[in-house]
Amino acid sequence: MTRKILVLPGDGIGPEITAEASRILAACQARGLDVEVEEALVGGSAYDEHGEPLPAVTLDKAKAADAILLGAVGGPKWDKLEDLSKRPEKGLLGLRKNLGLFANLRPAITYPQLASASSLKPELVAGLDIMIVRELTGGIYFGQPRGIEARDGQRVGFNTYVYSESEIERIGRVAFELAQKRGKRLCSVDKANVLEVTILWREVMDRLAPEYPDVELSHMYVDNAAMQLVRAPKQFDVMVTGNMFGDILSDAAAMLTGSIGMLPSASLNESGQGMYEPCHGSAPDIAGQNMANPLATILSVAMMLRYSLGEPGFAQRIEGAVGKVLDDGLRTADIASEGTRTVSTRDMGDAVLTAFEAA
Ligand code: NAI
Ligand code: MG
Repeated sequence: MTRKILVLPGDGIGPEITAEASRILAACQARGLDVEVEEALVGGSAYDEHGEPLPAVTLDKAKAADAILLGAVGGPKWDKLEDLSKRPEKGLLGLRKNLGLFANLRPAITYPQLASASSLKPELVAGLDIMIVRELTGGIYFGQPRGIEARDGQRVGFNTYVYSESEIERIGRVAFELAQKRGKRLCSVDKANVLEVTILWREVMDRLAPEYPDVELSHMYVDNAAMQLVRAPKQFDVMVTGNMFGDILSDAAAMLTGSIGMLPSASLNESGQGMYEPCHGSAPDIAGQNMANPLATILSVAMMLRYSLGEPGFAQRIEGAVGKVLDDGLRTADIASEGTRTVSTRDMGDAVLTAFEAA
């Protein structure tokens, strides 16, 4: 059956980087991948055209797609919009919510060729390959009640940290299954010494563990996890945690690799439908200059092939091609160092395509 892919270029460097990723997709199609690719507007560009960051036409196409590739949204042009519901970021949140994308997969991988780009010593990060599984549609970012109100003559702000057993269980299963396919170690991160909701989290993870006897489950408090991530990151394989802890830990882990322009991500729902995007934003400072790194977006296509389309062969081939161009010393400006050749967005896309074809 022909599967549907929706490409949402978005704003800033989004159109430039998704153009390169779309060329790789087309190369896969030429080699037999049976997909139909469509494009639509989201974010600021959608607001400019339709007055909404997530127009109904885009949402309908997203719902009908098997997988979505998103560039990035946002930029200074729309930062002054007073109506917060029209902000580009709302397009992204709306997609996550409407599609029920509860599982955010954030790999942090150090390419051996780029280990010197990390803020840590190369030997601490060389060969690093962590997968952080972040719950994305619950927890304190969505809990009710929430607000700022007057109490006893002063204003108080409050949020609610809430997870149900079923929410914990479904993200737990995603993490256990990933660990089974990887290094078979899962570290669940919580704050069970202080927060009841994470006592429940820990209980549910422990209850699931016997169903995955080949996976070694451990637990860690989030403050220690932050410390261990910068002390000895290679001790981790898969980490699973709630929305807020995952937000923070995954950004920290991303920076360990030293190259935000290299990191893809996936957000999945219960039926395996997924949205794939680079971890970075729309980089307005370099937009339109043909200098953005397209590799995170190209690697997002590889994740899409692996997790939503069941095509690990194509995924490996793309990842191999990226490794090859790095071996050859090609670098966009963000990852350039002494002795490498600095290339444009388009040149990088060309090189990956050539390596893909040659593989
Ligand atoms: P950013 O990730 O866009 O940029 C941070 C720095 O990294 C900039 O110096 C940028 O030039 C550089 N950079 C990012 N991606 C790059 C790439 N592929 N190649 C080379 N250099 C790259 O984060 P920032 O500056 O905080 O946000 C800019 C805009 O992006 C804001 O409007 C923000 O709201 C939006 N944003 C969107 C996200 C998304 O769509 N998922 C995520 C994060 C930010
Ligand atoms: Mg973040």
